[in-house]
Amino acid sequence: MNPSLKTKLTRREMIGAASAATIGAAMLPSAAEASPQEQNYQVGKDPGKHEPLPNFKFDIEAQTGWVGEGGSAKEATVEEFPASQNIAGVSMRLKPGGIRELHWHAIAAEWALVLKGTLRTTVISPNGEAATDIFEPGDIWYFPKGHGHALQNISNEDSHFVLGFDDGHFSEFGTFSITDWIAHTPPHLVTKNLNLDPATISNLPKKELYIIPGKIPANSLDPYLSGNLETPQSAHKFRLYDMPALNFPGGWERIVTANEFPINHTLTSVLQYLEPGALRELHWHPNADEWQFFISGRARVTIFGAHGRAKTEEFGPGQIGVVQQGFGHYVEQIGSEPTKFFALFNSPTFEEISISKWLAGNPASLISDNFLITKEEVARLPRKTLGIIK
Ligand SMILES: [Fe+2]
Ligand SMILES: [Fe+2]
Repeated sequence: MNPSLKTKLTRREMIGAASAATIGAAMLPSAAEASPQEQNYQVGKDPGKHEPLPNFKFDIEAQTGWVGEGGSAKEATVEEFPASQNIAGVSMRLKPGGIRELHWHAIAAEWALVLKGTLRTTVISPNGEAATDIFEPGDIWYFPKGHGHALQNISNEDSHFVLGFDDGHFSEFGTFSITDWIAHTPPHLVTKNLNLDPATISNLPKKELYIIPGKIPANSLDPYLSGNLETPQSAHKFRLYDMPALNFPGGWERIVTANEFPINHTLTSVLQYLEPGALRELHWHPNADEWQFFISGRARVTIFGAHGRAKTEEFGPGQIGVVQQGFGHYVEQIGSEPTKFFALFNSPTFEEISISKWLAGNPASLISDNFLITKEEVARLPRKTLGIIK
């Protein structure tokens, strides 16, 4: 080999060149016989080289987004937040009476958690069933992909809600809105289809309105005397804040899967509350990405992506994070105020493996050998899932 060339070759190239020179390219050892380095070479990997972990934090509330007279919307799609390939989110606000116009989404279902205000939604299903519902803080809705719907803030205060979509490529600004469609349909066909006079049609909006001001309806649905009769109260609605919590020494979780909220068949949502100093223990989710939105308080999230890669970020209200399916992670509460956040998972079932339960499911001798610790030290390990540790 040319000495000057040798200095320019990488280790991988040298392994390849040596193998080819000594035994011939067609006679490489089988994978079973090869050393780990050679196995890596054979499958085309560069040993020890892995992409750095992506940025898994995005400050959605720091964006300008779309702002209009009736409200505003800020979004996080793969454009803004490439780490989240499977879930997109929108932080939306509607003024009193403000309307998110009639529309549907071709590629994603819509989930939302109401944080402030009272909203009225309408939705149409393919079987012709129409539904109108009232949502208050702590309520979630779910509109399956393609179902036509509209939102209106019917309270006297500004409303705020966070939308989640089961596809990271989904853009709220690329939905199918009724004004956009009618504006791009020949007027004589609109006349024929909607029985409207040409004069009326000429005054219809010329482009998509998206979010518009509106009047608070006089006779919106009156809420029930008791808001907590049962959950869900209707096919599209689930009272997340009122469901029984899963309690741990350092906080609680409220987990809504398709079992509790059947229409919600592509997502699982978990509201989490961490008391000051709490640790959401080391764990991972085998079946889904975890998309987090921080509502109040602060937290430090660390993800582990194998190959020596770990990354930590701090989060506060209005910031979002994402943990890829299968990545190890944990959440440390920080600051004196309790921390509240919700997590969306792109699966109708919830799966989690915690480090405490995993270790508890192994014999002491194996743990002792694996960690290089004594049996007495092994005996100190937890025996069951800890969840949120105080
Ligand atoms: Fe929508
Ligand atoms: Fe998690």
